[in-house]
Amino acid sequence: MSRFVLGLDSSTQSLTALLIDIEKREVAGEESLNFDASLPSYGTESGVLPNEDPNVVHSPPTLWADALDQLLATLVEKKWPLDQVSTIAGSGQQHGTVYFKASAANTLSQLDSSKGLAEQLRDHFSRSTSPVWLDSSTAEDCAALTEAIGGHQPMHRCTGSSAYERFSGPQIRRFARTEPQAYSETAHILLVSSYMASLLAGKIVGTDHGDASGMNLMDLSSKSWNSDLLQASAPELEGRLGSPIPSTTIVGSISSYFVERYGFSAQTEVMAWSGDNPNSQVGLGLTQDGDCALSMGTSDVLFATLKSLPQTAGDEGHLFYTPTGDIMSLLCFSNGSLAREKVRDQFDLDWTSFDEAIDGTPVGNDGGLMLPWFLPEIVPKVLDAGVIRSGFDIDDVGANCRAVVEGQMLSRRLHAANLGINPRRLRVTGGASRNERITRIAADVFACPVEEIDISASAALGAALRALHHRVGGAIEEVVSPFVEISKVTDPDPSNVATYRNSLEAFARLESEHL
Ligand code: XUL
Repeated sequence: MSRFVLGLDSSTQSLTALLIDIEKREVAGEESLNFDASLPSYGTESGVLPNEDPNVVHSPPTLWADALDQLLATLVEKKWPLDQVSTIAGSGQQHGTVYFKASAANTLSQLDSSKGLAEQLRDHFSRSTSPVWLDSSTAEDCAALTEAIGGHQPMHRCTGSSAYERFSGPQIRRFARTEPQAYSETAHILLVSSYMASLLAGKIVGTDHGDASGMNLMDLSSKSWNSDLLQASAPELEGRLGSPIPSTTIVGSISSYFVERYGFSAQTEVMAWSGDNPNSQVGLGLTQDGDCALSMGTSDVLFATLKSLPQTAGDEGHLFYTPTGDIMSLLCFSNGSLAREKVRDQFDLDWTSFDEAIDGTPVGNDGGLMLPWFLPEIVPKVLDAGVIRSGFDIDDVGANCRAVVEGQMLSRRLHAANLGINPRRLRVTGGASRNERITRIAADVFACPVEEIDISASAALGAALRALHHRVGGAIEEVVSPFVEISKVTDPDPSNVATYRNSLEAFARLESEHL
């Protein structure tokens, strides 16, 4: 009997499992394992290995395998009905790469269920540690790949992103360049997602289109590797990568290792895993064209769903395939809550008096605008931090508080529009999404309803929902929407919307003057 589907999320710091009851259409369990706390012998701090070079950030791939064993053992202890799981899908932190020798394939196909995964795989890695998304050691490699394809815009047009240090292509290039012997012993290069799927399926599994979009190697329009980029990255790379596969692929049934050791049914299907952002897109319910979410934390991240590749010529942000075959754009603004806190602290305020200061100023700030670049900014690219104030005084408490929030939202709206994104609703998550002044300004600047959602494990939920959709079929929207809990909706105020339409034009002019 198969009553459940399982979603797993192998993130930077933890592995999470989320179980969905297919018939009841509800979450039946959630369990997480923290790497540092549960597997201290690996010596990780926040999931990564300490390194004297701050640009080099790696994690041991054996840790992720060990975590899978430990978490599944906990689920058995907690009496999760693993024998009734029909399909497992998963999510991995994006960009991280795993390097296997040729011998790994054979070992994966005949794992001994009386021994742990890490113990059996340890000797089959050609690189004992995996660079992860926090690694920024590949500036030289990014420059080489960018040159190979003819510049930043051609790179963005082809792969959906400019070359980024953390992306897998530049990471592979650095490995091949600095450790050619180890590279020559590498037969398979996987991402965290395809590595975890390979463990479950007991064979080498291809990387899905969603996570392959985070490599600076795949041509998004053809969903195949770009030969110039492959060639500029490393010798004979294509065979080591295999071909990218659709995220909905059932890569096989679960390896007998998991059947014998944890009691899964031998019929359990393993679905391709994808990256955490593509999975979160599903978990946040962003399945319709133009759906958009803003996660407000240390930095603010705007996600949007597009049904086709945007025809814009810019090089901002990232475009990834979603697990449903749509496109998601991801724009990361480094001046998020930190910028808001800087203004709060400049005037010795707490959040209540910050809100009161906003209430004491008119919508649109009498034309006062701020480019809130307290830190270097990613979108738009601003390398030297420096706040620009226009039309108000640096000492005006109310104007500064309003200007930082309005400036942030105007910037989010402007850069989303540059990618062709004009949301019909904006879902907000993260600490600042609880602030009513911020959600009001967001609704009025974006001219659409703002929906607050409470969600902690959006990537694991997204993975489980992918498995559920595979089981039950139908429109993905209908499968996903019962799982998205909206706690509050803020509708736009038409007169404020009109005010911000003017602010947006003025903001765009001000920004272009300072770039
Ligand atoms: C996205 C990125 C991060 C990781 C975090 O490009 O680098 O969001 O996916 O796990």
